[in-house]
Amino acid sequence: MIMTDQLMYGGDYNPEQWLDRPDILETDIEYMKKAKINTVTLGVFSWAVLEPEEGQYHLDWLEDIVDRLYSNGISVILATPSGARPKWMSDKYPEVLRVSEDRRRALFGKRHNHCYTSPVYRQKVATINQKLAERFGNHPAIKLWHISNEYGGECHCQLCQEAFRNWLKNRYQSIDELNKKWYTRFWSHTYHSFDTIESPSSIGEYDLHGLKLDWKRFVTDQTVDFIENEIAAIRKGGATQPTTVNMMYDYLGLNYEKLAKVVDIISWDSYPLWHKTKEVEIARDNGLQHDFMRSLKKKPFLLMESCPSATNWQGISKLKKPGLLSAASWQAIAHGSDSVLYFQIRQGRGSSEKFHGAVIDHSGRDDTRVFKEVTAMGEQLEMLQEVKGTKCKADIAIIYDTENRWALEDAQGPRNNGLFYHEAVMKSYSAYRKLGYNVDVINEAQDLSDYKIVVAPMLYLFREKIETRLEAFVKNGGHLVMTYWSGVVDEWDRCFLGDTPYGLTQVLGVRRTEIDALYDGETNFIQGTNNERYECQYLCELTQNEGAKTLMTYGKDFYKDELAIAENLYGKGKAYYVGVDAEQAFYDTFYKKVVKEAHLQPILSIETPEGVEVTSRVSEKHEYIFIQNYNTEPVDMPLDGVGEVILGSYRDGIGAYETVILKK
Ligand code: GLA
Ligand code: ZN
Repeated sequence: MIMTDQLMYGGDYNPEQWLDRPDILETDIEYMKKAKINTVTLGVFSWAVLEPEEGQYHLDWLEDIVDRLYSNGISVILATPSGARPKWMSDKYPEVLRVSEDRRRALFGKRHNHCYTSPVYRQKVATINQKLAERFGNHPAIKLWHISNEYGGECHCQLCQEAFRNWLKNRYQSIDELNKKWYTRFWSHTYHSFDTIESPSSIGEYDLHGLKLDWKRFVTDQTVDFIENEIAAIRKGGATQPTTVNMMYDYLGLNYEKLAKVVDIISWDSYPLWHKTKEVEIARDNGLQHDFMRSLKKKPFLLMESCPSATNWQGISKLKKPGLLSAASWQAIAHGSDSVLYFQIRQGRGSSEKFHGAVIDHSGRDDTRVFKEVTAMGEQLEMLQEVKGTKCKADIAIIYDTENRWALEDAQGPRNNGLFYHEAVMKSYSAYRKLGYNVDVINEAQDLSDYKIVVAPMLYLFREKIETRLEAFVKNGGHLVMTYWSGVVDEWDRCFLGDTPYGLTQVLGVRRTEIDALYDGETNFIQGTNNERYECQYLCELTQNEGAKTLMTYGKDFYKDELAIAENLYGKGKAYYVGVDAEQAFYDTFYKKVVKEAHLQPILSIETPEGVEVTSRVSEKHEYIFIQNYNTEPVDMPLDGVGEVILGSYRDGIGAYETVILKK
């Protein structure tokens, strides 16, 4: 399915808020053209205008706008309106409203809060989707369907309870099997029938980890089912364009691995807290999310939303300093996005997002600082269309798994004050980025055979036979890095019996005996034979060496001199065990050794200055190297002869927040 041959540039546009101001709608199109905007997303929250009364469909205004955009060379991403409902619907059919975990039904209001099981809601959504598809399914302006908006959250109504029970019946067949998997003899929580099982609740069951995990899986599956219902309706209406759902930053409410399977294109909404700490650190954290999104399908994705200046929902509405809009936008492209899209084109006048940044603000002018930066970005993108569709290739994968995180953070032990999974993943990710390598960020179900190095930080929950696949990976010559608190439980959060990390003690050459948690502020250190020394915190694992080579040992406490970091030859490959939460400097040094032993070459052979990020995309013929300076000062990098400079004024250095693109 070819969506468009352009890098998409534009964003969310809400003309339904301006229908009584045709002058504004006209100016907007002129401004879009001026800013080189080629795509807008329409209809995200338009339901009350599209169907003001039950069964009365008003689509002409939308068609008129789509036509006008098209005749001005602007394409459309068309949303289905299920992200928020019209009032008449909640009034007439209260079942469409969500019930919270404490069993209270919501009143009308807000958004993203429908019951995803309600047959009425599903029917209403299907009907409006089909109407939209019948009208716009063949319109040449429409390139992509944006299904709903930022799916998330859960509903605990009776309809959802019923669906959950059926889901469980299907999964376990017998109640005995469910009791076994959920380990319900503990505290006498044995179930006698599927028919009385309730979803987790703060006024009921909240300690059964198997139930909680399955509930989260159900919520994902039920949401996926809802999405499929939406997509089936647009297909029934004759639409053939590809589909997407816009995902969110580090979102834990759904397992995106499953959503990725039912849409054609991955997209996400990126709102980093720019300028809160060093820009490069924020860029890396955002980079990890870009890479996670790209790795879901290992294909170019879309940056569906980003803010042209300050948001209004974060604690502090910080403006993007001059140049940062360009850096953040190019970062998305550098990590594999085929778009730069903003929320929003025109700032709304009232209600809760009236102060959210936009391409066109309340002044209605096209000479604002933001508008000029948006235009400059548009001009650059227009010149660099050749990057569209190129791929990011990575030899290194880090496993960052949602189900693992669900279980890990709910486990009650070994450190309820914080296990720092995201931070642990970030340490490995940052180290590889600093060394100048592309990284894929994958889940436990994904294939490992494309990689030379696989990192499994805190992979507490094993599923999808990961131990067998990791063993095969190392046996066949791969380099595996596994950290503390891995291979502890099965997919129901039941502890493995016998030696752990489960199934991998021979591969790693070590087995875990105990794990010590450190108080906040308490530290230990690890040391190597060449006097290297690194601080460590939070978690220190004690291991029995079963044939591995000791790389580093603990510096103090009753486990002083015991093994902390190990390596082990296995088959044609090598496995490393990092038994402790060590400081960043450890990872920065350690991974230099790992990449060398895995014979990997960084994207650039020259050294990268502090604060500069390097990524690459490749086509069949060319490599595009993106060099981004996140420092507030220019930096010097000897890039002469590396490739043709196709973006950036690179002469004596790279400016603050500047992006240089080299083509090889
Ligand atoms: C989300 C939503 C948008 C808008 C923006 C504001 O990403 O999808 O509708 O509310 O946040 O930043
Ligand atoms: Zn419900």
